[in-house]
Amino acid sequence: GTRPFQVAIDGPAASGKSTTAKMVAQRLGFDYIDTGAFYRCVTLAALSKGIDPSNQTQASQISNLAQSSHIGLNTVFSSSPSSLPTTRVFLDKKDVSSEIRTGTVSKHVSAVAAIGPVREAVLQKVRDMGATSTSHEGNSGRAGLVMDGRDIGTVVLPNADLKIFLVADSRVRAERRLQELAKSGSKEEGSDVETVQKDLERRDELDRTREASPLRKADDAVELDTSHLTIEGQVDAIVQEVHRRQKAASSSSPSSE
Ligand code: CDP
Ligand code: CDP
Repeated sequence: GTRPFQVAIDGPAASGKSTTAKMVAQRLGFDYIDTGAFYRCVTLAALSKGIDPSNQTQASQISNLAQSSHIGLNTVFSSSPSSLPTTRVFLDKKDVSSEIRTGTVSKHVSAVAAIGPVREAVLQKVRDMGATSTSHEGNSGRAGLVMDGRDIGTVVLPNADLKIFLVADSRVRAERRLQELAKSGSKEEGSDVETVQKDLERRDELDRTREASPLRKADDAVELDTSHLTIEGQVDAIVQEVHRRQKAASSSSPSSE
């Protein structure tokens, strides 16, 4: 049979990757994998063991944690296309969905994600999850997969059928992130727009300049600036592009494939 359609969504922090990816997956009946959640889980695991993630000498301990931790994702889709799917994240069977979004984890996650062996461990877990979620055996297999992160188009799914690189002005991104935090009811100390904006910019800089699979737009990715778009607008654009490419592929490939 044909391999499941792969959509890779990358971009800087709070550019809209996960919201967009979830809604695209819901519209198309595809699976969704949030790869940032893996790095956030490893960071949380390290912090809760009293490890300082920015201390270079702790890197091998964090890498061991990355390998031994069990990370699970469960996305619940809705039958109403306009409502937002929810993803629960489990670290060693414990629901850590809110804990991994706190300011403390956000502050340290880029240091953890810069450790080469941590990335190798996460890559393995992400690939395993991608392979099982879209396997065509049994009924759980879905027709495609949407994955979001920083290195999906460049490293995780280099042969993805569609690669999207989302960008947005950092001030706009900070305002959106604050609104999100307010909605979820989690009040963080010092979370004014300047502080959030600075944190996003600092994290982007770390992600862009690190040695191991840095944040970079893949050569064959489509760049989408969401600063002046609506969520619905960008989801529509991506869904249409998936349909266009599926049609092109089915008319150009022999019927045996
Ligand atoms: O939602 P937000 O953009 O704030 O962050 P995220 O997607 O949850 O990712 C958190 C951090 O994990 C990023 O800042 C990166 O340092 C790292 N990450 C990565 O290195 N590679 C990925 N594929 C996904 C996330
Ligand atoms: O995953 P990433 O960190 O890239 O972004 P996110 O967690 O999806 O957060 C983006 C926030 O901006 C969400 O609250 C979206 O609803 C909002 N937003 C957007 O993504 N795109 C727009 N055009 C407008 C708002």
